[in-house]
Amino acid sequence: MDRVNLSSAFSSFDDQWSPKIIAELNGQHVKIAKLLGEFVWHHHDSEDELFLVHRGRLRMEFRDRTVVLEAGDLLVVPRGVEHRPVAAEEVELVLFEPAGTLNTGNVLNERTVEEPGRLFPGSIAGTGS
Ligand code: NI
Repeated sequence: MDRVNLSSAFSSFDDQWSPKIIAELNGQHVKIAKLLGEFVWHHHDSEDELFLVHRGRLRMEFRDRTVVLEAGDLLVVPRGVEHRPVAAEEVELVLFEPAGTLNTGNVLNERTVEEPGRLFPGSIAGTGS
């Protein structure tokens, strides 16, 4: 049972739109990602997704409205609902969703990450007992 420090975890990589698994439990993954720019419109047929902003401001666009998330805000996007994350400046995001959830949902394109990387606690500077 190793502590994971989110700030240290975010400091350990620079690539954007590339989710990293930082914990798993009950068949769910906790992932972190850095976002900048517009993602692709997509939905997930059978997964609800939790988005928690750690740093920055995330616009979550839906077809009929937009929800702005500031640091410390979280939002659950229900399965089947089309959404598009947009970040005007870099956002540090925490995701919680079932293992195997594809980041681009029903869409396959250059942004699709089939096998998210793993940041094990021991590989993140500043973590440990
Ligand atoms: Ni999604």
